Amino acid sequence: MSTRAITTSRVPPGPYGARINGVGHYVPARVMHNADFVKLFETSDEWIVTRTGMRERRYAEADVAASDLATHAARHALERAGLHAREIDCFIVATVTPDYQFPATACIVAANLDAIGKAAFDMEIACSGFIYALSMAASFIRAGIFARVMVIGAEKLSGITNMTDRGTAILFGDGAGAAIVERTTMDADCFLACELGADGSNPDMLCVEAGGSRNPITRELMDAHKNKMFMSGREIFKYAVNKMVETSKNVIATAGLTTDDIAWVIPHQANRRIIEAAAKRLGVDRDKVVINIERYGNTSSATIPIALSEMIERNVMQNGDLILFTGFGGGLSWGSIAWRWSA
Ligand code: ACO
Repeated sequence: MSTRAITTSRVPPGPYGARINGVGHYVPARVMHNADFVKLFETSDEWIVTRTGMRERRYAEADVAASDLATHAARHALERAGLHAREIDCFIVATVTPDYQFPATACIVAANLDAIGKAAFDMEIACSGFIYALSMAASFIRAGIFARVMVIGAEKLSGITNMTDRGTAILFGDGAGAAIVERTTMDADCFLACELGADGSNPDMLCVEAGGSRNPITRELMDAHKNKMFMSGREIFKYAVNKMVETSKNVIATAGLTTDDIAWVIPHQANRRIIEAAAKRLGVDRDKVVINIERYGNTSSATIPIALSEMIERNVMQNGDLILFTGFGGGLSWGSIAWRWSA
C-alpha cells in the first residue's frame, strides 16, 4: 500500500467564519451485549472487552432506517440550538447504510424535518464521513454559500453486519449524531485546519462487495454474505494508528498549535486499543481523550458526533477549548480537524 504525502490545509481566510451551534444524537433502545454473541459463535465477553474495549452496542429494529436515526439526532441538535429545520440551508448525511441506493438519505431527512426545498446530499466515505462532512460544511459557510449546514453521521450497521463472522460482528452498532455548523465573523472562526486523505488501491480491505455496479447482487453472492461487511482487521489496525497520528500531528502543526494546546481529542471509535495507541504516540494525556466505545461499539460516521453530543450533555467543554477530531475508515480514508469550541 502506498503512503503518498498528503497536503494539510491551513483553512484559507474567507468572508465568514464557521462555528458549531447545536449538537445532538440518537441511539436505538435495543442493547446488544457481548454475551449475546456467545450464543452465535465461539467468543467471550473477556475476548471482546480486551481486544476492542466494547461491552455493548445498540441495534435498531428491522423497520428502522438510517434516515429515522438521522432525523432523531437532527431534531435533538435543532432543539439544543433553538432552531427550526427551515433555518438550515443544507443537510449533509454521512452514511454507508443509506435508506436506498438513491435517493440520498439527506433528502428524506430534510423532508421528515419539514425542510423541503433545502439543499440535501449524502457523503459516503465510511468512518471518516463526519470529518469530511464537517470540513465541507465549514467550507460552504466560510465561502458564503450557506449560512447554516446540518452535518449528520447516521448508520444502521447492524443491517450490513455478517453475523456469522466473529471477527467483525462484534464491532458494529447503530446510531446517529448531528451538528449544526453556522456562520460567524471571521475573527470568531472555529475551523482551524484540516487534513483529508484516501487510498483506494485495496478497496476490498474493508468493503461490502456486492450490491454496487461492480458486483450486482445475486443469490449466490448473498449466500456467501458478500452483501455484508468484510474487513481485514489486523492490517487496518496498524494503518489506522499510523494515519491518526500522522494527520493529527499535521493539523496541530498547521494550525500553529502544540499537542499541549489541545483540550480534547475526539477520535473515531473503532477499537479502544487503536485510540490508546494513537494517543500515546501523540503524547496526549489519557483524560483528554474521549472514549465511549464500551457503550456503542463502532457506529462509523456517527461515533464522533455522538461523542461530541455526550460531552455537551456532561457540560465539560469550555468556550475556546481546542478540539482535535480524528478518524479513518473504509476507502481506505482518513482525516483530522483542529477546531476551536465556541459555546
Ligand atoms: N472472539 C474470539 N476470537 C476471535 C474473535 C472473537 N470475536 N474474532 C477474531 N478472533 C480470533 C481470530 O480468529 C484469531 O484467531 P487465530 O489466531 O486462531 O487465527 C485471533 O482471534 C486473533 O485475531 P486478530 O484479527 O489478529 O485479532 P486482533 O487483536 O487484531 O483484533 C479486531 C481483531 C478487533 C478486528 C482488530 O483487528 C481491529 O479492531 N481492527 C481494526 C478495525 C477497524 O478499525 N476498522 C476500520 C473502521 S470500520 C469502517 O470503516 C466501517
